[in-house]
Amino acid sequence: MRILPRRRLRAPFLWLVLPLWAAAQGPVTVTASVEDVPFITTPDHVTVAMLELAGVGARDHVIDLGSGDGRIVITAAKRFGASGLGVEIVPDLVAQSRENARRAGVAARTRFEVQDLFATDLAPASVVTMYLLPEVNLALRPRLLALKPGTRIVSHDWDLGDWAPDRTLTVAVPEKTIGREKLSRLHLWTVPAAVQGLWCGPGGATLQLQQRYQVLSALLTQGGLSRSYSGRLHGTAMELLGEAGARWQATVDGNTLRGGDATATLPWRRAGAAACG
Ligand SMILES: C[S@@+](CC[C@H](N)C(=O)[O-])C[C@H]1O[C@@H](n2cnc3c(N)ncnc32)[C@H](O)[C@@H]1O
Repeated sequence: MRILPRRRLRAPFLWLVLPLWAAAQGPVTVTASVEDVPFITTPDHVTVAMLELAGVGARDHVIDLGSGDGRIVITAAKRFGASGLGVEIVPDLVAQSRENARRAGVAARTRFEVQDLFATDLAPASVVTMYLLPEVNLALRPRLLALKPGTRIVSHDWDLGDWAPDRTLTVAVPEKTIGREKLSRLHLWTVPAAVQGLWCGPGGATLQLQQRYQVLSALLTQGGLSRSYSGRLHGTAMELLGEAGARWQATVDGNTLRGGDATATLPWRRAGAAACG
């Protein structure tokens, strides 16, 4: 049985630890011909915690990558009123998911497709959920970062490398059969807008932004004075904090920043290739 094809999973230690990881998750079902990750279910209470962490509601569209028996998408629809898509490489699991959705009364709001998660169009998602493996998460990271700012991503147990989560929650999972830690880690990211570069403000003011994922450092030059800030993005919402309680808040709208502080208000525009002026 081919569990982890080398084309995506190159970390040799994973071949050794995966059976332990699988055993640690409690009841395990492994189907034939699985692809990048084996089928291991997220326990129901962890599923609910993942969806709560993402703040899923009736206006959300949840895409679960590697949807197994469909439980995350079905719970998102039944308990939180969302719509959802589950993509899964194992056809029997997709058939089972459709049947589970029908029984749960949410077939109209959910869809399950036999599909490689690396080929899935993620653009319609407002929430992406994943219970995969570290290197699979990393391979997905560029596509996740390119999603619409504000899209939430929740991953069960594994992170996204040096893209630090906005929040991590631990949930007790007493049924984990090995290891001292009987818990799952749930990580949440909100896709940040891309703001790196120079922005031009009113009266010749400039804002130079350095961005690493959702973390920002900034130099604001205004009236011949320059001040440094550090800050964060939460989707399109930017907050910069400087010395002596200086605070700068803005909303990113494509190439426009709306907001500022008491001395520099709306709107700011991205400088593009040319300097401000
Ligand atoms: C750990 S299970 C998680 C199942 C479900 N999301 C949950 O949390 O209960 C990972 C699932 O991903 C599926 N999978 C593995 N590689 C895949 C791929 N390339 N495309 C789509 N699904 C894949 C597996 O068959 C398995 O059902």
